[in-house]
Amino acid sequence: MKLKFIAALLALACSLHPAVSQGVPAGSPGFFQGNSTAAVTFDANSLFIDGQRVMIFSGEFHPWRLPVPQLWSDVLQKMKAAGFNAASVYFNWALVEGTPGSLDWNYFRSLTDFYEVAKRVGIFIICRPGPYINGETAGGGFPGWLTNVNATARTNATLFTNAWNAYMTQFAQQTAPYQYPDGPVIAVQSENEFDTQTLHRPYMILLENNLRANGITKVPLTHNDKNAGGQYSGGAGAVDL
Ligand SMILES: *[C@@H]1O[C@H](CO)[C@@H](O)[C@H](O)[C@H]1NC(C)=O
Ligand SMILES: *[C@@H]1O[C@H](CO)[C@@H](O)[C@H](O)[C@H]1NC(C)=O
Ligand SMILES: *[C@@H]1O[C@H](CO)[C@@H](O)[C@H](O)[C@H]1NC(C)=O
Repeated sequence: MKLKFIAALLALACSLHPAVSQGVPAGSPGFFQGNSTAAVTFDANSLFIDGQRVMIFSGEFHPWRLPVPQLWSDVLQKMKAAGFNAASVYFNWALVEGTPGSLDWNYFRSLTDFYEVAKRVGIFIICRPGPYINGETAGGGFPGWLTNVNATARTNATLFTNAWNAYMTQFAQQTAPYQYPDGPVIAVQSENEFDTQTLHRPYMILLENNLRANGITKVPLTHNDKNAGGQYSGGAGAVDL
């Protein structure tokens, strides 16, 4: 009886959790102008998933480095068994768009196949599509043909924008249906280990706008700060988290 009463109180307390009852993420300033009704929110200390505080313990896995999709499930299951609740994943533009304008998302390049595996395994995914990833790859994920594009990479130069547009657009469109709770994706990283030079911020804004416009609207955008300098934690082009 007493236990039941406590359980009922707990249930009431949970239903009154601000992140759930108001549809506004507790302490997620700037995340959709404070209007997010997403299941993934955050405060100064951690993410919340479905209104519950969750500590993210993420390993790193790059499906294109294991180009046998039948083996992905095994790796993700082992990560989960080892105590990780998430996998952080670089995707590699160079492998997807070997010829400008001709994108191949099949087989080991498939986003949807990978998300389906992660969903089945039950592990969260943090997407890191670049366009620049470094990732100890040749060109850092930039396709070789980019050297023939007469524009400074990682700026808002029109020819460079035109170069990455198809890859990022298609990445976002294919990832959007897999945002939590419909799929395993809980965050998307914009660019990688970047700085805030004059023409870099406008490029960051273009990337973020592209992700949002193509459906990444339910999970926070993040960044991987190259030297813990707080880059893109504020100012133009700042990410959510
Ligand atoms: C919701 O977003 C609008 C802009 O789209 C903004 O004017 C409003 O202040 C936001 N609400 C909150 C609670 O931040
Ligand atoms: C590259 O662009 C610069 C101006 O941004 C121009 O001066 C130069 O001629 C261009 N080079 C080629 C090969 O088009
Ligand atoms: C790039 O950003 C700068 C600074 O905001 C701006 O002056 C310039 O017009 C932008 N270039 C393009 C091609 O949009």
